[in-house]
Amino acid sequence: MYPIYFTLLFHFVGIGMLFTALFGGWIVGSQYRSAPDWQTKALHLKSLRRIGLMSPIGVLVMLLSGIGNMTLGPHKYTLFSDGWLSAKLALFLVAILIGALSSVQAMRRSRAVTKLAAGDTEHPHENTLRSVETQLKISSTLQFLLIIAIILLSIVRPLG
Ligand code: HEM
Repeated sequence: MYPIYFTLLFHFVGIGMLFTALFGGWIVGSQYRSAPDWQTKALHLKSLRRIGLMSPIGVLVMLLSGIGNMTLGPHKYTLFSDGWLSAKLALFLVAILIGALSSVQAMRRSRAVTKLAAGDTEHPHENTLRSVETQLKISSTLQFLLIIAIILLSIVRPLG
């Protein structure tokens, strides 16, 4: 048993967490969109927030296990030792950035839905919601594509 086996195990657990956050977000997100009233939507958003928590935890697991992968194996890596790894880390940073922006947008959505659920229709909350939701949809699609690209880079290992 090599120590890298443990970090690889956590690496795959982290991948599972990231996909659970993405797919869970899509499933509950579609329930949120088809909910008949603002109160039900607010309830679905509560579940979405919990599912969303899996994302920063997954990122942390990937980062720590990734550092373990770099240092514990027979092949020692540095940030610039292998092109595929450098490219993967760059995409990983982009995914984290998009995730951070999405969490701000998700908070804006929560605030607007809570106000609408409480019967406050004075402010144009519905307009805010439409633009925030479009941005969230684009972000989650981009994150999905980034994770697929990162997995392909890690398996195929092009660029030396
Ligand atoms: C979304 C983020 C990530 C995904 C989806 C991902 C995915 C993967 C996959 C599928 C492998 C191949 C495992 C194998 O073939 O045995 C791998 C290996 C590896 N990953 Fe990641 N990874 C991510 C983030 C990171 C980060 C942040 C680091 C570094 C800090 C990292 C460092 C490594 C290293 C060094 C290996 C090679 C281990 C070996 O020598 O076999 N990964 N990753």
